[in-house]
Amino acid sequence: MIDLNKIKKQAQEEINLASDLETIKQISRKYLGKKGKINEIFKCLKQLPEKKKKVLGKKTNLTKAEIEKTIKKKHREIKRNVEGLKLQKEKIDITRPGKEVKTGHLHPLSIVQREIIEIFQSIGFSVVEGPEVETEWYNFDALNMPRNHSARDMQDTLWLKQEEKKRNKGNFLMRTQTSAVQIRYMEKHNPPFRIIAPGRVFRNEATDTSHEIQFYQCEGLMVDKNISIANFKAIIEAFLKKFFNKSVKTRLRPSYFPFTEPSFELDINCQNCKGKGCAVCKNTGWLEVIPGGMVHPNVFRAVGYKPKEWQGFAFGMGVDRLAMMKYSIDNIRLFYSGDLRFLSQF
Ligand code: DAH
Repeated sequence: MIDLNKIKKQAQEEINLASDLETIKQISRKYLGKKGKINEIFKCLKQLPEKKKKVLGKKTNLTKAEIEKTIKKKHREIKRNVEGLKLQKEKIDITRPGKEVKTGHLHPLSIVQREIIEIFQSIGFSVVEGPEVETEWYNFDALNMPRNHSARDMQDTLWLKQEEKKRNKGNFLMRTQTSAVQIRYMEKHNPPFRIIAPGRVFRNEATDTSHEIQFYQCEGLMVDKNISIANFKAIIEAFLKKFFNKSVKTRLRPSYFPFTEPSFELDINCQNCKGKGCAVCKNTGWLEVIPGGMVHPNVFRAVGYKPKEWQGFAFGMGVDRLAMMKYSIDNIRLFYSGDLRFLSQF
């Protein structure tokens, strides 16, 4: 005997109890699958006489359709519930305060270096670079500082270890000054030109509030016909005015560098005390900011220029020093400390 009603009821009960899609799938297989209950009935029908087969076949088809309908309905219901739960879980309370996104920012020295570059580019200077590991030739000899020249003592040098047999090509060192880039540039280019060369330099020094074993310089070099100290002064004053955002008083003081003649220091009025005298300027009212001079004929000779034909001025500003003045920082070591309390102020 085949009790279709019983099967239908049983299926409906099971469907009612189901609470997840997997169970629904199993029920569907159990009743409507190839080896499911409905199919089994169809198989049995084959043995019945034609008339009975027709009646029962129709009933079976109806039962099948009903079970199918109930399953589909339940399937939809479960799916809706699952999605609802998911949405509820993912619900965002848009009234809650947001989390601050912490992004990085430029280091104060990078900010100042970029400013310097921008100002010089605006008055026609190109930016060039050179290596931090240099040869003795570029760092000293070609800059009119041959071996045994006493001026080499002004810059305590970090020499690199080298095999003895390679020494005849000159010793390697960590460049002590960006002036080395002057030589590299002039070897490959003909005047007239104006360049700056920003970069890191190294000295074998004990550190204190104004000395570090590494710091940044920005070299400048302008070569043309009829260049004089007046050009140097005008360009540096224009630079300082833009850099400090106001006119600053300057003065030139005689100095000595082997690669310039004459050489001088360009001082600015102490920005801290406005020239009255304070600890920052050691009571002089002046701060040494930019050393420079007119390029020495020997430097031109070293790169194959005719000293009678060309003149130029050069300078080498201390980027750290300028940054310290601009932001009133009294210790150079803060730049290299990695201390976020300091860095986050920029
Ligand atoms: N290279 C020098 C130093 O590190 C600074 C300097 C002085 C650079 C005079 C120049 C210059 O180009 O003309 O002490």
